[in-house]
Amino acid sequence: MKKLRLGILISGRGSNLNALINACQKTCFPAAIAIVISNKSDASGLEHAKKAQLKTKVIQHEDYPDRETFDKEIYNSLILENVDLICLAGFMRLLSKWFVEKWPSKLLNIHPSLLPSFKGLDAIAQTINSGVKVSGCTVHFVVPEMDEGPIIMQAAVPVLNDDSVETLSARILAAEHKCYPKAVELIARRQLSVSNKKVIDQNNYSLPNSLFNPPID
Ligand code: GAR
Repeated sequence: MKKLRLGILISGRGSNLNALINACQKTCFPAAIAIVISNKSDASGLEHAKKAQLKTKVIQHEDYPDRETFDKEIYNSLILENVDLICLAGFMRLLSKWFVEKWPSKLLNIHPSLLPSFKGLDAIAQTINSGVKVSGCTVHFVVPEMDEGPIIMQAAVPVLNDDSVETLSARILAAEHKCYPKAVELIARRQLSVSNKKVIDQNNYSLPNSLFNPPID
């Protein structure tokens, strides 16, 4: 089976990129990374890509007069690499409607909350301030509206009494690193379809080792 070609967009640390790199290094994984694009030249995540000898490109939004010109440069770079699927992995820049609509069901994002709760920036601080007892992460298809779009996969994580932004982020991030490669794999294996804004998983997949066992008898 031909491997799906991934374009990965980052802005920072790139731990989700690293999880995808590790998955793609397995022979049986049905996707390969074609290019990693960062909108920040100092994104430490670029190091993961370089270490794995992947093609990288820095496209800094400051160098472009407006959002659309910046997005067109990203679009052209992805087209040149013949990518089949784009993964936003901590890419902290809103993409224009023009860009998003070029990739229907081909543009994914990961967000550190159980969407539709706690959209936008500071999702973890919003979570802690709200007092919810369960949070988690969401992988979803991107639509022009921020942090909306059909949900592909979620994993739940407990919120503990003494959690700080750092401790809860670390617990959610561990879940993200399992979900993102799994979501890519399900897409590559053509197991998902979208109907009525909902993602249908033909095999009703759920994460095998439940990340969160509710303490309920
Ligand atoms: C991740 O927690 C990701 O869910 C979040 O940024 C972090 C990036 O970490 N994304 C968003 O908040 C998007 N709205 P990483 O650079 O180590 O992958």
